Amino acid sequence: VRWALADLPVSGIREIMNVALGRPEVLRLETGEPDASPAPHILEAYVKASRDGHNRYTATEGIPALREALAEKLARVNGVARTAEEILVSPGGIASLWLVFRGTLRAGDEILVPDPGWPDYLGGLASLEARVVPYPLDPPRYWPDPARLEPLITPRTRALVLNCPGNPGGAVPSAERVEALVDLARAHDLWIVSDEVYDEMVYEGVLASPATFDPERTLQVMSFAKTYALTGWRLGYLAGPRWAVESLTRVAMGVWSSVSEPLQYAGLAALTGPQDQVGEMRRRYRERRDRVLSWLDDAGIEASQPQGAFYLLVDITRSGMDSRSFAFRFLAEDGVGVAPGSAFGAVSRHMVRLSLASPDAVLDEGVRRLIRRLGTSFPA
Ligand SMILES: Cc1ncc(COP(=O)(O)O)c(C=O)c1O
Repeated sequence: VRWALADLPVSGIREIMNVALGRPEVLRLETGEPDASPAPHILEAYVKASRDGHNRYTATEGIPALREALAEKLARVNGVARTAEEILVSPGGIASLWLVFRGTLRAGDEILVPDPGWPDYLGGLASLEARVVPYPLDPPRYWPDPARLEPLITPRTRALVLNCPGNPGGAVPSAERVEALVDLARAHDLWIVSDEVYDEMVYEGVLASPATFDPERTLQVMSFAKTYALTGWRLGYLAGPRWAVESLTRVAMGVWSSVSEPLQYAGLAALTGPQDQVGEMRRRYRERRDRVLSWLDDAGIEASQPQGAFYLLVDITRSGMDSRSFAFRFLAEDGVGVAPGSAFGAVSRHMVRLSLASPDAVLDEGVRRLIRRLGTSFPA
């Protein structure tokens, strides 16, 4: 027998998480999980759907009511005009991503991926034998820049991943900047894979989807996970031109068949019910961002200035260590889990990432220990 997959590197976030999971006393700031629980009306909708007998396979593309509600949401929240037929329900944003990568890339094709960027893009891309070309995002705002992208485009480039608001940089670029990126993609006939899973976590600026400028070349990757604190339920969707969505639906049929039926009803309740919790989470993350940034500033420590998503990148140059060694030592000596910047690319290799979605007490104590540690070296 022969195994077709080349060895894939282990995610630098997982490495820390795997150690942290075995130590319950650790203050965990390394992963991006909302500290809230799903709102009661969403939980109830799930249970009710199951009690009412919605426990079966559905159409691969999703139940019609949910696709209609998603079309309405895309118009209301994202300013993107899509019909229900242009939307495919998926088991999470990551599943939408893989499908979109599969649809746009053949082995050996190049795809432009942000640096720093979410490392989980890489596993799916490696499985498709695509060539990842990182493009730099510049601190402190981490906006994608057409001038930095253009020199990296070759005749093999097929797609550009945009992730706004970005993980880990928190970028929310202006509409003018997004339009310039779309113009660049059009000039080189590239697909835009627009990962907008943090679309409702914006603190400053207005999020402009590339789909508003060029719906025919944009595939939007979306999720319920962060917006409704449903990370473990696995519910997402994608939106794009109808012909592309129909083609991807035929692939999804052979990958996940259909998404859990009661879960789709819960998603419908999330979209059509009260949105108070979404606003509350946004307010809380923003408060945490402002508080932690002011502490870091007082301590003379540089950090990102996120306009959205819920992460902070903190400069650890003064530790004299690379971010992976620092993250392991910080976990071992101070009992705090942070994600090493090297897990996200070269640009952030002298930084660590903290999640602002961690509970206040955990975040505050973790940041206190980080500031203290950056002022004193580890014991020899
Ligand atoms: C940038 C980015 N895209 C996509 C996802 C995946 O979302 P989901 O949980 O819906 O698969 C995440 C989750 O952390 C993310 O940070």
